[in-house]
Amino acid sequence: MLIDLRTDFVSTPTEEMIEAMARAARQPPSFGLRDDPIVAELEALAAQTLGKEDTLFCATCAAANQIAIHLHCRPGEAIVAEAGAHIITSEAGAHAALSGTVIHPLSAHPAVPRPGEVESAFSPAVPQRSRSALLWLENTHVGSGGTVLSREFMHEMILCARQGGAHAHLDGSRIFNAAAALGASAAEVGREFDSVAASLNKGLGAPMGAVLAGSRAFIGQATRVRQMFGGGWRPAHIPAAAAIVALRTMVDRIADDHARARELAAGLRGIEGLQVDLGQVQTNIVFVGLKSTFQAPALVELLRQRGVLAMQLAPDRLRLVLWHGIGRLQVDRTVEAFRDALHHALTATAAAPQRTHPIHK
Ligand SMILES: Cc1ncc(COP(=O)(O)O)c(C=O)c1O
Repeated sequence: MLIDLRTDFVSTPTEEMIEAMARAARQPPSFGLRDDPIVAELEALAAQTLGKEDTLFCATCAAANQIAIHLHCRPGEAIVAEAGAHIITSEAGAHAALSGTVIHPLSAHPAVPRPGEVESAFSPAVPQRSRSALLWLENTHVGSGGTVLSREFMHEMILCARQGGAHAHLDGSRIFNAAAALGASAAEVGREFDSVAASLNKGLGAPMGAVLAGSRAFIGQATRVRQMFGGGWRPAHIPAAAAIVALRTMVDRIADDHARARELAAGLRGIEGLQVDLGQVQTNIVFVGLKSTFQAPALVELLRQRGVLAMQLAPDRLRLVLWHGIGRLQVDRTVEAFRDALHHALTATAAAPQRTHPIHK
């Protein structure tokens, strides 16, 4: 069996989820946009879990994010977001294409903006500038390796946004990881935000889907925008049935993934040729730096040959993401695969014939 550490959306559904989907598949599909009883049960459970009045089941977290942008902003308005946020790096410019928004990027580390930067982003409108309509936070922050934003930090940021008359949205694709790391509930993490998007298919292991959470009125409008964006999926009761099990059974175990991530990081740290910063491993993501001798594509291939799938982030950096199918055994096998792959690479380099350079006279 391959050990797939490229991301957490490769997580497989549990037996209980598979059984729930099989039962749902025998139910008659419903007709309307929001009248399926299983989807309604999921949306109510998600609302309770996230501490909001209502939620809307979406096929992806990117869809939930984009619906939120469309409702919070008008064309020409700005989203204030850290420069490495997923909506900037990985959603194909959808915020601009679908909602006509621009980004006011915050240059700093996701959890520590430079003093004054946020205040000035929301300072009273200057007519030459786009109005900052929306504060965008991502918790955990994937681009920096699963960094957790503290509740105090989020509170301060939201305060600035409110003072500037802006709304606040949380891209909580991994909100359950953030909650576990903060020792809080997901509802507490998302409490001050007007809207929260949360993935069900990452740490929680549902086969697909995300929810957008907010007030009842906001979710009512979100239903129309979801339809406008082509996301009014029906029938959705089969993935919804699995997502209910995910919310009921997988939230409390997510801290295990963080423990496995720390074990993996500690195991890799001892291997010659790798650079792993244990302090950076806050949740379920491990970044592995490669010392100059090795190139990421070659190492990814050597690992694949040894049954481990890793993702290349840069020529000298890999990403490993933990999820519920990765236990101690898989962690040990991964460390062993790295050790063996690097040994192989080093031996091959040493054995390679030395190039002779022509002498230019
Ligand atoms: C922080 C963050 N937001 C949003 C998304 C989008 O999720 P989806 O693939 O469900 O659209 C991801 C995906 O990895 C993510 O990491």
